[in-house]
Amino acid sequence: MGESKFVNDKIAELEKELELLKSTPSEEEYFRKRSSARVKMRAEQMMAAKNQAFDTVALWGLYGKEDIKRYKCFTLPLFMTTAGGSYDSLLDGALLLSYQTTNDPNKVYSRIDNVNSDHLAWKFAALEGLGSPELTQGLCTSSGMSAILMTTMAFLEPGDNFVSSNRVYGGTEQLFNITYPKSGWKVKWITEPWDLRKWESKIDEKTKFLYVESPSNPTLFVADIPALAKLAHSHGIPLIVDSTLASPALMRPLEHGADIVLHSISKVSNGSCRAIGGVIVAKDKIVTKNPAIAQDFVNKLKGGHFRNMGPCLSPFNSMLIWDEMSTIRIRMKEHCEKAMKIANFLKTHPMIEAVNYPGLPTHPQHEVAKRLMKLPDGTNGYGYLLSFNIKGGLEKAKKFAEAFDFGVQVTHLGGSYTVWVHNATTTHAQMSSEERKSAGVLDNMIRYSVGLEGADDAIKALEKALDKIKD
Ligand SMILES: Cc1ncc(COP(=O)(O)O)c(C=O)c1O
Repeated sequence: MGESKFVNDKIAELEKELELLKSTPSEEEYFRKRSSARVKMRAEQMMAAKNQAFDTVALWGLYGKEDIKRYKCFTLPLFMTTAGGSYDSLLDGALLLSYQTTNDPNKVYSRIDNVNSDHLAWKFAALEGLGSPELTQGLCTSSGMSAILMTTMAFLEPGDNFVSSNRVYGGTEQLFNITYPKSGWKVKWITEPWDLRKWESKIDEKTKFLYVESPSNPTLFVADIPALAKLAHSHGIPLIVDSTLASPALMRPLEHGADIVLHSISKVSNGSCRAIGGVIVAKDKIVTKNPAIAQDFVNKLKGGHFRNMGPCLSPFNSMLIWDEMSTIRIRMKEHCEKAMKIANFLKTHPMIEAVNYPGLPTHPQHEVAKRLMKLPDGTNGYGYLLSFNIKGGLEKAKKFAEAFDFGVQVTHLGGSYTVWVHNATTTHAQMSSEERKSAGVLDNMIRYSVGLEGADDAIKALEKALDKIKD
C-alpha cells in the first residue's frame, strides 16, 4: 500500500469488487449479491438515521457521500427522464424488470422508480421512522389521494370492510363512499371518533384495517393514535393514519404504534405550494391478516398495483418537495407559534363565537394533542390550521369573507402563504346545511391556514374585517 489515502481507498474498492466477482459462480449470482448489498446498505443507512437529529435527516435524507461522488453534485440532481439505464447486461435487465433485484432505481422505468422519487421516499421514511426502532420504507405517489387509494386497496377484496373516522378530508370521504362500493369495499364510518367503544363495535371478521386522519381537515379532530393502534392490533389488523396536517415535524404516528402513515405532500411538506404529491411510509413488518403483505408492504405495492395503475410522482415534483423538506421543522415551528398567537387573538374577539385550534385548552382533544403533537425537540406545537366561527351565522360569515383582505381566499392549506376559505359556500357547498353540521362544518365557519407572514399583520387585518361586520 502506498502513502496516499486516495490510492489506498481506490485499491480497496477495486479489491472488493474483484473479490465479489471471484467468489461469484455466475452472472446472476453477481447481480443478486449487488442487489442485496444495496438493500443492506439502505437498511443500514436508515438505522443510522435514527441516531441523527431531525434536521440532519430532513436536509440530507439518504443522499450521502457516495451519491455526491457518483453524480458529481452535492445537491440531489434532477433525473427528469422516463427511464434511466442502461442495464449492465441482458440478464441485469431481466432481473431488474422481474423485481428480483433492485440495484439501481435509475435503471428502471420512471413510472415504477426514479432517483428523485426514491430519495424523497427514503427521506420521508427516515423522518417518519425517527423514534420507532423498526425499519421503515416509503413510496411516493402522484397525489395524496393516490397515496390513500394505493395503501387502502392493498388490503381489500370484494365483501371486505374497514372502519374509518368520519372526520376526513372531503376527497377521502368521496373515495370511500362513492368509489369503493363499486369494488365491493365498504367503509364503516365512526361519527364519534374520540370514543374507542364506537370503533370496537364496528370491527368484524371482514374488517381489514382502521383508518384515521389526524389532525383532520377541516374539523381538527386529533386521534388518540396509541389507543387506536392497540385496538387495531388486538383484532390482528393495521392502523393507517393520514398525517398530512401534522407532517413528520409535528407527529410521527409510527412511533405511537401505527403501521402505515400517509401524506398529501401537496401541503406543508411543500411550503412553496408548487407541487401536488403523496407519500406512503410503512413499517417493515405490519400487523395484518394477509401474510402476503405483512412484510415489506411498500415494495410489494411498488411491484404490484402501484406499477399496474401508474400513479407515480413526477421527478420534478419529487425534486421540489425533497428540497422543501429540508426546512420543514423550521417552518412548522414558525407556523405553530404564529397560529397560537392568532388563535389567542381570535378567541377574545367579541365577533367570534368559537375558535377551533388544538393548542387551545377549549379544544375537545387538547390533552391528546398535548401528548402527541410535538416538535422534534419535544416541545408542543399544534400546527398551522385553525377554524373560527363568526357571530351572526351564514350572512355574517359571508360578509367577513368579503371584508377580509389578507392572504389568499383559496382552497389549500399548509403552505408558507396564508390561505383561508369559507367552507359552507365553497369546499362543502354540495352538502346540505344539516350534513355540514354533522361533519362539524358550520355555516359560519372560516378555515384559516396560518402562513409565514408576520402574525401581527394577520391580526391587524382580521381585526379590521371583524370591525367592519360589527353591525
Ligand atoms: C388531510 C388530507 N389528506 C389527503 C388530501 C388529498 O391530497 P391531494 O390533494 O394531494 O390529493 C388532502 C387534500 O386536501 C388532505 O387535506
